[in-house]
Amino acid sequence: MTKAARYEALLPELESLVDGEPDLIANLANITAALRVCIPVASWIGFYVRRGDELVLGPFQGKVACVRIAIGRGVCGTAAAERRTVVVEDVDKFPGHIACDAGSRSEIVVPIVHAGEVVAVLDVDSYELAAFDQVDAAGLERVAALAAQLNW
Ligand code: SME
Repeated sequence: MTKAARYEALLPELESLVDGEPDLIANLANITAALRVCIPVASWIGFYVRRGDELVLGPFQGKVACVRIAIGRGVCGTAAAERRTVVVEDVDKFPGHIACDAGSRSEIVVPIVHAGEVVAVLDVDSYELAAFDQVDAAGLERVAALAAQLNW
């Protein structure tokens, strides 16, 4: 199965997972678990939820991670501040990258915008260089659009 086909199959799965369930944390947790299967190259997948001018660790799959990231800092804070998907092929070349796991080599972060505000970001890391590309950006932006419809 190609990467694009995996994302294509993921979306209806996510829709049925969250369908009829109002609890935000439960839904975010299940989304990370489904993404882990969909993205085998990922070492860490999770949400950082906006709390004022910080992002705070939310449901995730992977090793323990940094809890608080200021908006504008690191890859996550940059994606939140600039409201855009950030694809980092080599984290060592991203000024200000926050290394929660020294093994992480590449990363993608997608903002989640609800009612005109960034309410969270979806962060995916990999131990492989350049693990993420425009197929991942397009797929994860669809996941972010679905997540944006949850009970924020
Ligand atoms: N690398 C991120 C921090 C979060 S961890 O990767 C889980 C960043 O630079 O924002």
